Amino acid sequence: MTGQPIPVIIDCDTGVDDALALLFAVRHPGLDLRAVTCVAGNTDVDGVVRNTLTVLEQAGAPDIPVGRGAERPLIEPVRSARHVHGDDGMGDLGLPTPARTPSGLDAVTLLRREILGSPRPVTLIPTAPLTNIALLLRTHPEVTRNIERIVFMGGAVAAGNATPVAEFNVWHDPEAAAILLTAGVPITMYGLDVFQRVVVPAAEVRRLRASTEPGARLAGELLAHRPSAPDPDGDDPAGGLGDAGAVCSVADPAGITTALLPVEVSLAPGPTRGQTVVDRRARPGESEIHEGGRGRPLVDVALDVDVPRFVRLYLSTVERGTSRS
Ligand code: BDR
Ligand code: CA
Repeated sequence: MTGQPIPVIIDCDTGVDDALALLFAVRHPGLDLRAVTCVAGNTDVDGVVRNTLTVLEQAGAPDIPVGRGAERPLIEPVRSARHVHGDDGMGDLGLPTPARTPSGLDAVTLLRREILGSPRPVTLIPTAPLTNIALLLRTHPEVTRNIERIVFMGGAVAAGNATPVAEFNVWHDPEAAAILLTAGVPITMYGLDVFQRVVVPAAEVRRLRASTEPGARLAGELLAHRPSAPDPDGDDPAGGLGDAGAVCSVADPAGITTALLPVEVSLAPGPTRGQTVVDRRARPGESEIHEGGRGRPLVDVALDVDVPRFVRLYLSTVERGTSRS
């Protein structure tokens, strides 16, 4: 690693894979995790706060400020993903309740303080519905002067998961995602197309689960809760890194291939609501020829990912300081 660590803030809905992302962020020497803010998504916001505090304690990073944010999306009702993330939103692993409480500042106020107070521009990493970020941009637009870029997990070029075309984080709060895309700062979209591909092999999951170091062991338990393929040799399946891949791409941008493309969120009611419409055409079409361009924001869209590179990066980071490293 060269240079100073990158100041980052994660806005999350912890969340099994958000927990994997937090474990990575606190242990990577090239990242300076300055705060974590919480929003309703995978589970209710109080569950997200509890899970986030627990993960930071298990990772040996109990002092990072955690802010409680939006209880619900701007317009949509709350719609959790407990069927994926368990009743407690984090895999029902029976983890201890955290010893501390969140910051007295709400998420938007904490985000403003940490962004404007940072000596160097901050990289924001939302891995959740974008409600907090939209409220921040509308309440304190001056923060953009000290934001380096926003790397968000959300959207999809091809297929969705919440609907055939919409990814969960964008579908949960489409208006917030539309506000994010017009923030006026560089934006990278780490969408489902790459998100779903980064999978830790079963043997590595097994090794992590057997670790005596709490953070590495938690990573193994979380990965085992994200099975992506049955293991032919044993009980532990391979496990997807999910949101953690977005944080890997901040620590190691060369691990993804991106293209600067126009992206807009479908806000219309009906089957396309929450879709990220990514324009990959080489030249304008009849719509632009007859009606003119619509000035859609350009977003750096992740189109490919070096899977072995991110798996190696994740494991070597999370196992730092354990007997294996
Ligand atoms: C996203 O939705 C959540 O369930 C995951 O944590 C991830 O951020 C994937 O669509
Ligand atoms: Ca998430």
